[in-house]
Amino acid sequence: MNKKGFIFDLDGVIVDTAKYHFLAWQNLAKSIGIDFTHEQNEQLKGVSRVKSLEKILEWGNKTISEELFASLMGKKNEEYLSFIEKMTDEEVLPDVPKILAYLIAQKQPISLGSASKNARPILEKVNLLSKFDAIVDGNDVSKAKPDPEVFLIAAQHLNMKPEDCIVFEDSVAGVQAANTANMISIGIGERNVLHEADYIFSDFTEIENSFIQELINR
Ligand code: G6P
Ligand code: MG
Repeated sequence: MNKKGFIFDLDGVIVDTAKYHFLAWQNLAKSIGIDFTHEQNEQLKGVSRVKSLEKILEWGNKTISEELFASLMGKKNEEYLSFIEKMTDEEVLPDVPKILAYLIAQKQPISLGSASKNARPILEKVNLLSKFDAIVDGNDVSKAKPDPEVFLIAAQHLNMKPEDCIVFEDSVAGVQAANTANMISIGIGERNVLHEADYIFSDFTEIENSFIQELINR
């Protein structure tokens, strides 16, 4: 039986948390007098918490002490977690359970490949943790996307070669990471943003089982 490694990003692919990251960063930026636009947010998708704050400060031309940096990171995560707390499985993105069920029925190995340090509690909250054979998240990596580290570790956990892995990503950095890892990249989102991906879909409702089957048979 053919097997491929299926690796899913979390935020913006499995759950609709991208909007919460945006809100929390926007509020934080505002609190230190920095304007934060949607375009800038696009560049933070898939990017670790530390790197995100570094970029916001860079855009706002601000240098701050290490202590303030640490406290701002804490503040952002606190607000983000307050949004997460109220989350239910209704915020699982359309047809995600369907594609996971199909992959499980076809006995395909599945991993998470996320930069988030909050991945496990979020997957637990939306009742999807048990669907994954491996979880690789922000606690396991030292290099942020677009570095391919997170996906290469996921491939190892699944016992799959990188070229036999398929990555679902909503971020430019994540698509680049998948491409650098020599994996098939599937962009979930806007075509003009994710044009570097091998395939692009607006969301999982556009992905037919036959397409997944073709990937498995490649
Ligand atoms: C994901 C999101 C980013 C977020 C990063 C770290 O990649 O797309 O927006 O900054 O995870 O998430 P965390 O939950 O650890 O702050
Ligand atoms: Mg994402």
